[in-house]
Amino acid sequence: MKPPVLRLYGRQKTRALKPAQQELMDQLLPNISVSTSELSKKSGPILEIGFGSGEHLVHLATQSPETFFVGCEPFINGVAALLIEIDDKDLTNISIHHGDARHIFDELPDGLFSAVYLLYPDPWPKKRHFKRRFIQQESLALIHRLLVPKGKFYIASDHETYQTWIEEHLTMDVVSATFDWSNKTTKETPWDNWTRTRYEEKAYREGRTPRYYVLNKK
Ligand SMILES: C[S@@+](CC[C@H](N)C(=O)[O-])C[C@H]1O[C@@H](n2cnc3c(N)ncnc32)[C@H](O)[C@@H]1O
Repeated sequence: MKPPVLRLYGRQKTRALKPAQQELMDQLLPNISVSTSELSKKSGPILEIGFGSGEHLVHLATQSPETFFVGCEPFINGVAALLIEIDDKDLTNISIHHGDARHIFDELPDGLFSAVYLLYPDPWPKKRHFKRRFIQQESLALIHRLLVPKGKFYIASDHETYQTWIEEHLTMDVVSATFDWSNKTTKETPWDNWTRTRYEEKAYREGRTPRYYVLNKK
């Protein structure tokens, strides 16, 4: 598959890995890296795109040991942080794609995921960078293809112009023909099984108001 041209993420590494993290990158990551053929055999796995340091993914995987989870993240320090948690907690129901989530999409069958999470995607606030935003008509069509019938796509954003962007996309005829959706702002529980991400803590501390979207595949 041809890699997408545009890079949608910022820094891939902010600091050197500690020896224990590097060891897990070398030893554990290859064992739990996404194998699209293995993943295709799982029943209703759940995908998180851009898991950051992985705290939301660990929360879900701990709460639902019977469910299989996939996390995609190009940021090395985030992947290393998640590996530490997976190792400490002996989690066996997470696999990781260290890289751009879009790179695995083409190889995955239709109707695979029971849910997809996109929490606080990079806002790319400058107009000339809007095309780097994850939410685009094409990515919504891809997520739609990958979801089971009635599968859910959860999105959170604390950035006002990205919220407007998301809502503009969700009201496009071509998108609203394929998803029902709702949105709300609440400091409590935007949906079942919610846990605050690190990025969300920062948003609240800095006075931004997150908005949460739940899309249901029609
Ligand atoms: C603002 S951070 C939010 C992290 C985390 N979801 C949270 O709420 O704390 C956005 C994350 O998305 C990741 N990201 C951006 N584009 C991505 C892509 N195409 N595939 C996978 N991850 C991506 C970035 O590396 C970054 O870690």
